[in-house]
Amino acid sequence: MATTLAEADETVDFAARLEHVSKSFTGPGGQQLVLDDISIDVAPGEFVTLLGASGCGKSTLLNLVAGLDRPTAGSITTDGRPALMFQEHALFPWLTAGKNIELALKLRGVPKPLRRDKAEELLELVRLKGAYGKRVHELSGGMRQRVAMARALAQESNLLLMDEPFAALDAITRDVLHDELTRIWAETGVSVLFVTHNVREAVRLAQRVVLLSSRPGRIAREWEVDIPQPRRIEDAPVAELSLEITEVLRGEIRRHGQH
Ligand SMILES: Nc1ncnc2c1ncn2[C@@H]1O[C@H](COP(=O)(O)OP(=O)(O)OP(=O)(O)O)[C@@H](O)[C@H]1O
Ligand SMILES: [Mg+2]
Repeated sequence: MATTLAEADETVDFAARLEHVSKSFTGPGGQQLVLDDISIDVAPGEFVTLLGASGCGKSTLLNLVAGLDRPTAGSITTDGRPALMFQEHALFPWLTAGKNIELALKLRGVPKPLRRDKAEELLELVRLKGAYGKRVHELSGGMRQRVAMARALAQESNLLLMDEPFAALDAITRDVLHDELTRIWAETGVSVLFVTHNVREAVRLAQRVVLLSSRPGRIAREWEVDIPQPRRIEDAPVAELSLEITEVLRGEIRRHGQH
C-alpha cells in the first residue's frame, strides 16, 4: 500500500483522501499497531487540525500523507505532492533566507531568472520583506518559521502538511503566526492538515478538528468549528469549544493510563 498522487488529468474533490489507513511498526516487543483504520478527507481549501496526545501517531500519519512512509493497510491519495513544514524549520544554514526559498523554486522547475522576484514575493507574503539576504542564524525563531512557511508555499502544493510548526515558539510569537497562517490560508486557498497536541491552537485555526485516540490512534471524534475568522485564542467561543474537546481528550488519555 502506498500514498498515490491523483492522475494529472483527473479532477478530484479532495486535497487528500485517507481510506482505512493502518500502520504498524515492528520493534523488539513485536508488532505495534500505531494507527488503526483512519479515514479522513481533506476538502480543497479546507483547514483541518489533527489533535491528539503525545505518541498517538500524529507525526506517523502526516508522514504517510507526505509519502515519506507507507501505510500497512489502506490507501492515501493526494491531489499533487504535498508540502511539509515541521516543528524544526529545517532550513539550510549556509544559505540565506532568500536562497532557501529559491531552492524550493528550483526544485519545482521555476526558471532561474524568475526565482529572485518570486522569493521576494513570498517573503513579503510572510511579512519578511527585506530579509532576502539574511542568513538563518541572523533570524529569530519566529522569523525562521516564517521563512520555512514561505519555502513550503514556494512549492505551490494544493496541500500543506504542518507538524506542530509553532510548538517551539513563545506564546506571543505563536499568536502572531496563527494570524499569519490564517491570512495566508485565506489568501492562497491552500488546504492545510495541521498536527498539534494543543487544543486551543487546534480550535483557533481549524474549520474542523479531528481528535485521535491513543494506542492505537483511531478517530475518536470530530468537531466542525463554526467560529468566524479571524479568531483569537482567548475568544470566549474558542475557549468554550476547547474546554469541551479537552474533556474528551482527557477521557481518552485516562482510558490509556497516560498522564
Ligand atoms: N519509525 C518508527 N519505528 C518504530 N516505532 C515508531 C516509528 N515512528 C513512530 N513510532 C512509534 O509510533 C508511535 C507514534 O509516534 P508519533 O511520532 O507518530 O506520535 P505523535 O502523536 O506525533 O507524538 P508527539 O505529539 O509526541 O509528536 C510512538 O509509540 C512511536 O514510538
Ligand atoms: Mg509528532
